[in-house]
Amino acid sequence: MKKLLLTVLCCSALSPALAADPIAARQQVFEQYKKTVGAMGKMVKGDTQFSQQEFAKLAAHLDELAQQPWQYFTPGSTKGKTDAKPEIWSRPAEFKAAIDKHKAEVAKLKATAASAQSVSDVKAQFGATQQTCKACHDQFRAD
Ligand code: HEC
Repeated sequence: MKKLLLTVLCCSALSPALAADPIAARQQVFEQYKKTVGAMGKMVKGDTQFSQQEFAKLAAHLDELAQQPWQYFTPGSTKGKTDAKPEIWSRPAEFKAAIDKHKAEVAKLKATAASAQSVSDVKAQFGATQQTCKACHDQFRAD
């Protein structure tokens, strides 16, 4: 019995959903979001030259990132340095809907970027993707 308990403890501790500091873990992913979306935004605005290859790489990276932060919104990870609103836990269906919408738009952006000929081909979908960041922040992030 003791052995079994140890096994359970050992292996659940490895699960990313039980990261030692879920708040820091999700914020770290969001910091990568910021970097990735920032670089894409510069190309879309024309601050840096548009490279289809580079933009498609960033979009693929964003698609990977979009799978990650949500597992770190674990029950009880509401205390400390976090801007997560309690609505994340009191309105789980709405939070999930915001995540699903976001993932869908990011996936579309990845597909659009992969076959883009010019910056004008990605502009609208980049905007739609950013809109899903804002929509979730408005509802579920403080300030
Ligand atoms: C489904 C909801 C949701 C979506 C979609 C979302 N975010 Fe967030 N984001 C949050 C929440 C909640 C926090 C606050 C996390 C915390 O402080 O614990 C946050 C925090 C952040 C932070 C601050 C991280 C820090 O260091 O404190 C940045 C930057 C950020 N998001 C960028 C983005 C970008 C860019 C996108 C879109 C590409 C995006 N987010 C999409 C919910 C979302």
